[in-house]
Amino acid sequence: MALLQLKSVGQTYFSKTSATTALEDITLSVNEGEFVSILGPSGCGKSTLLSIIAGLLIPTSGTVMVNNQQVNHPHPKIGYMLQQDYLFPWKTIHDNITLGLKLRNQLSHQHVQTAFQLLKEIGLEHTIGKYPSELSGGMRQRVALVRTLATQPKMLLLDEPFSALDYQTKLKLEDLVSSTLKEHGKTAILVTHDIGEAIAMSDHVILLSSNPGRIFRTFKIPESIRNLLPFEARQHPDFSSTFQKIWEELEHIEQNDHE
Ligand SMILES: Nc1ncnc2c1ncn2[C@@H]1O[C@H](COP(=O)(O)OP(=O)(O)O)[C@@H](O)[C@H]1O
Ligand SMILES: [Mg+2]
Repeated sequence: MALLQLKSVGQTYFSKTSATTALEDITLSVNEGEFVSILGPSGCGKSTLLSIIAGLLIPTSGTVMVNNQQVNHPHPKIGYMLQQDYLFPWKTIHDNITLGLKLRNQLSHQHVQTAFQLLKEIGLEHTIGKYPSELSGGMRQRVALVRTLATQPKMLLLDEPFSALDYQTKLKLEDLVSSTLKEHGKTAILVTHDIGEAIAMSDHVILLSSNPGRIFRTFKIPESIRNLLPFEARQHPDFSSTFQKIWEELEHIEQNDHE
C-alpha cells in the first residue's frame, strides 16, 4: 500500500521582484517499507521536495497524502534528518536523543528505553553523558539518527545526511543506517547527489531534472543488489551497469541545463 502519495506537486517561490519555480508536476508514491532515493543536480529542488513531504512547506499546487490523508502541517509520523546534525551543543547526548520525545510530551519510561536501546544498537551507549563536541562527525550523525528514530516515525526523510562526512565514514554509515531502518521496518526517502549512494541504498531511484525540478526518470534497482548491504552492493557487477545507466541520464540533464 502507498504510504506516501504526491499528486502534481509544484512549488513556486515568490519574492517582490521575481518568481522561481523550484518544482513542477511531481507525482510519485512510496510504499510502506520502501527505500527511495531522490537524485539530482544541486538546486533542482530536492530539499524543497522533502520540506513539502515533511509538511513544513505547503506546495503552491498539488497534494501530499500520507496514509490517504492530506498533509498540511508537520506530520508526527515523519522524521527528518539533515546534512548537519543540529545537536544542541549545551545538552548531553542523553538530553539530545530524548529531546524530540520531550517536545512531543512522550517522555515515558518505555520511549526513553527505546531511545537508549537505539543508541546501544548503533554502538554509542558509552557517549550518553558526553557533549556533542566530544564526538566525531560520524558519531554525531549516528546520534542524530537515534534522535530521529526515538520518536518512532513511520517514514524517515534524509537530506544528504552523509555528504559532510569523509568517504570511509560515509560508507560505514550507509550500512548502519540501511540495516537499522530495515530492521525497524521503516520507509525512507533519501535525497542525495551521489549516484553510488542512491543505488547502494535504495529500491527505487527518482532522477530529477532542474529548472524547474521535474521527474526525469525512475529507476528500479535490480533485485540482485537490493537486499545487500550498501557496501556489498557497491561490489556487485550489477552495480556498475546501473551506475552507468543513471550516469548517462544525469549527463543528459546537465547538458540540457547548459543549453
Ligand atoms: N526559501 C526559498 N526562497 C526562494 N527560493 C528558494 C527557497 N528555497 C529554495 N529556493 C530555490 O529553489 C530551487 C531549489 O532549491 P532546493 O530545493 O534547495 O534544491 P536542492 O536541495 O536540490 O539543492 C533553487 O533555485 C533555490 O534557489
Ligand atoms: Mg538541498
